[in-house]
Amino acid sequence: MPIRTWMIYGAYGYSGRLIAERAHAEGLAPVLSGRDADKTRAVAEELGLEYRSFALDDAQSIAQNLGDIDAIVHCAGPFSATSAAMIEGCLLANTHYFDITGEIRVFEHAHSTKIDTAAKAAGIVVCPGVGFDVVPTDCVAKTLAEALPGAVQLDLGFHGNMSVSPGTAKTMVESLGDGTNARRDGKLVGIPLQVRDIDYGRGMRRSANVPWGDISTAFYTTGIGDITVYWPASESVIQALRFADVVRPVLGLGALQFLLKQLIDWNVQGPSQAQRDRQSVCVWGEASDAEGRSICARMTTANGYTVTQLAPVAIIEHLLRHDVAAGSMTPALLMGKDFASRLPGSSEITVT
Ligand SMILES: NC(=O)c1ccc[n+]([C@@H]2O[C@H](COP(=O)([O-])OP(=O)(O)OC[C@H]3O[C@@H](n4cnc5c(N)ncnc54)[C@H](OP(=O)(O)O)[C@@H]3O)[C@@H](O)[C@H]2O)c1
Repeated sequence: MPIRTWMIYGAYGYSGRLIAERAHAEGLAPVLSGRDADKTRAVAEELGLEYRSFALDDAQSIAQNLGDIDAIVHCAGPFSATSAAMIEGCLLANTHYFDITGEIRVFEHAHSTKIDTAAKAAGIVVCPGVGFDVVPTDCVAKTLAEALPGAVQLDLGFHGNMSVSPGTAKTMVESLGDGTNARRDGKLVGIPLQVRDIDYGRGMRRSANVPWGDISTAFYTTGIGDITVYWPASESVIQALRFADVVRPVLGLGALQFLLKQLIDWNVQGPSQAQRDRQSVCVWGEASDAEGRSICARMTTANGYTVTQLAPVAIIEHLLRHDVAAGSMTPALLMGKDFASRLPGSSEITVT
């Protein structure tokens, strides 16, 4: 049955607010929510939307607040601290779950057999990663897997000048101590830094591998067991990444992470609308099969935060009109491989 009611949690954060503004501009009426009642009310009053405030301490109280809500777009991250309880609450309340995480361990939890089975029993979709991470790369991955059915290796990447939001910066700090940066033979593993030259669509760029969410999700979308994700990196960044590999245990220390997050709270605000409007992103992928055949796919999208603003609302608009199959989903499995191309500011995916 199509949904009738939906909620944005974390609505006064940088991304939650962008998504609430887009929903309002589209004439939709989500209930806004967050743990701070005053901040939630301020955004809700500005947009003329209903609101409620609750914390994410336990699944039972989350479920009570979701009793009349058919779907939630969860925007309160880092999701390592918030996603498991919210998914549990959604399972209890039979509420479809969407989030904008890019965190590999959060994806792995949401796509575990336990959550997939529970989601099917509850008749809900559990679909993490409906922001820039991973919507366009997931659609490129699905396009490549369908164009080269025997593919055994998948490389993905993106290139664009993007300033980051506070939540993204904090989430990046959390991943500093995490050595998981690729998928090999279907397993998440740590590998030595990979460097290669890639033409994302604006000429060759030296690139290094990053622990981007597709290492998890592209496996569920395509079944391909070897996945690496790249972004452009200058020689000095490559040297710094090699150094980070050596000092990784220190980067994971709680005290250092706490200090870095404090610095982010004081200094990072996220890109302005003018910055977002100026910046586009090139997305690239390459699939290879065991016989050595390989194909490439490219697309351009709007700024990453604009994609993160548009994609969740487009998914909700789909759910307001259509029934969807229950279970753990990736964005491309749920919405199709051309989903990213249908978003304003995106190109078609071209395969060569
Ligand atoms: N997929 C993508 O491409 C993409 C794009 C953008 C953002 N993101 C991710 O989305 C998350 C939010 O980013 P942002 O820039 O919007 O961050 P932000 O401006 O810092 O906002 C974070 C929001 O989450 C809330 N929050 C954090 N921890 C919470 C907790 N334990 N319980 C309840 N609420 C909590 C915050 O509330 P308080 O202020 O009360 O702490 C705030 O409302 C980050 O994890 C970021 O990496 C992903």
